[in-house]
Amino acid sequence: MTDTTATGATVAPAKPATKPARPHFSSGPCAKPPGWSPDKLATDSLGRSHRSKIGKSRLKHAIDLTREVLGVPDTYRIGIVPASDTGAVEMAMWSMLGPKPVTCLAWESFGEGWVTDAVKQLKIDPEVIKAPYGELPDLTQVRSDHDVIFTWNGTTSGVRVPNGDWIADDRTGLTFADATSAVFAMEMPWDKLDVTTFSWQKVMGGEGGHGVLILSPRAVERLESFTPDRPLPKIFRMTKGGKLIEGIFEGATINTPSMLAVEDYIFALEWAQSIGGRNELIARSTANATALDRIVEARDWLDHLPGDPAVRSNTSVCLKLVTDADADTQAAMVKKMASLLEAEDAAYDIAGYRDAPPGLRIWCGATVDTADVEALGPWLDWAWEQVTPR
Ligand SMILES: Cc1ncc(COP(=O)(O)O)c(C=O)c1O
Repeated sequence: MTDTTATGATVAPAKPATKPARPHFSSGPCAKPPGWSPDKLATDSLGRSHRSKIGKSRLKHAIDLTREVLGVPDTYRIGIVPASDTGAVEMAMWSMLGPKPVTCLAWESFGEGWVTDAVKQLKIDPEVIKAPYGELPDLTQVRSDHDVIFTWNGTTSGVRVPNGDWIADDRTGLTFADATSAVFAMEMPWDKLDVTTFSWQKVMGGEGGHGVLILSPRAVERLESFTPDRPLPKIFRMTKGGKLIEGIFEGATINTPSMLAVEDYIFALEWAQSIGGRNELIARSTANATALDRIVEARDWLDHLPGDPAVRSNTSVCLKLVTDADADTQAAMVKKMASLLEAEDAAYDIAGYRDAPPGLRIWCGATVDTADVEALGPWLDWAWEQVTPR
């Protein structure tokens, strides 16, 4: 607690004795897998053509491990594509939207970004169903004969869809799930997902740069039966002569990937396998989010941004300050808390996203250790005490 001496001078609150061993709580890039170090990465593919036998086999290995760890059905294609998750989402939107009415669901910044793409760039006049930060839109409004675009986990509000039950089994539209902060930490119902995207720097603690695009057989059917009436840059093109370019889904990437980033991703996938695969990744994320929830529950100055526990993320946990201060003051408090904690190497990058309501965002993905989340609690108190007017 901040204290006052006999002379009236304030004394800075005592610093907690223990620090998180790895204070990496940013929401992607995030903590590397436990035990990671650069000298543990395989390097034989570096300095070689990505089209060489070894280059292609490492890319294929990354795809095969992704399938195994995520439990993606054999009938689905998995491709490594340019420009991170954004690249994967946009190449799907640009290539596949048009033949059906489109619904965009948006409840935070990234979902809003896909609305902007659909409305202002593609000009396809989608139906837009929105909810404010901290809430989920009414999913029962989604029509099964529309294509629907949504984020599985809204990284900037900490709100996720609780499951895929709202997606009809007999839908005629396609589902497009931006699942970048969900895959590996949440069970994905593949039969409900036609286009799924993610990047490596989220739950797996990989490097930025590449996206992964997972396509159901119905998504491939769309690609092969529909030619959009719009220019497609080379890095978006997945078909040739009306046929899927299968090579993209076997490791022959469209353009040059970073083999270092690929090797780093393979390290993360092999770590995932070594600890027990997807179930253990999900369990680790949930244990971290539960530990953070205990911290929140024990403090009257801190609360979850999403009111409903059923929609709260177990990766990007978004918290708000419980205070009468106005939004600008809260934003300044958050900024100060985050920079104090960074300067102490107690927590990196935990200020909420720039467009979200002011608050803290603490990453709880699978590469974070629960003991580090637990060690963060007293540091949050320490930072809070320093920004609280007395
Ligand atoms: C839900 C969501 N979509 C898209 C992105 C953009 O990802 P990338 O930088 O991999 O393109 C992010 C990044 O945080 C995200 O959280």
